[in-house]
Amino acid sequence: MALRNIVKDGDEVLNKKCRPVVKFDKKLHVLLEDMAETMHHANGVGLAAPQVGILRRVAVIDVSPEQNKVIELVNPQIIAFSGEQEGNEGCLSFPGQWGIVKRPNYVKVRAQDRFGEEFELEGKELLARALCHEIDHLNGVVFKSVAERMLTRKEIEQMNS
Ligand code: CO
Repeated sequence: MALRNIVKDGDEVLNKKCRPVVKFDKKLHVLLEDMAETMHHANGVGLAAPQVGILRRVAVIDVSPEQNKVIELVNPQIIAFSGEQEGNEGCLSFPGQWGIVKRPNYVKVRAQDRFGEEFELEGKELLARALCHEIDHLNGVVFKSVAERMLTRKEIEQMNS
């Protein structure tokens, strides 16, 4: 496994729509493992392939307190959602920036695992937020563009104190 460079704000790769994965090979497995390592190293709860410069529909999420339950998502799509939550959201590609983003409080996702096997996953609250955020990335949508507004520097200072 290896750490990959995280693409930052301003790189146009973050605004491109990703292509589906068609080959569930060793290369995909290495990508998934590198992405999980990179996400954990950066203390993130999610990372999408375009954030490491790969325009494929791949994402990893880990919202567990111990950071040891990685969810691997290949070709994920939201098939149901309900409710609403509003809260602060950040992104490893936008360090130090936070926005208030409305998301569904519950989502159901259909995806494939690293071997191409289809599965469904339900998430609420933080997991629902992470699923929406990462799937947005695969469509070239970053949280800043869907935020109600971005937090001010003062608000971020208060959040960190
Ligand atoms: Co992000």
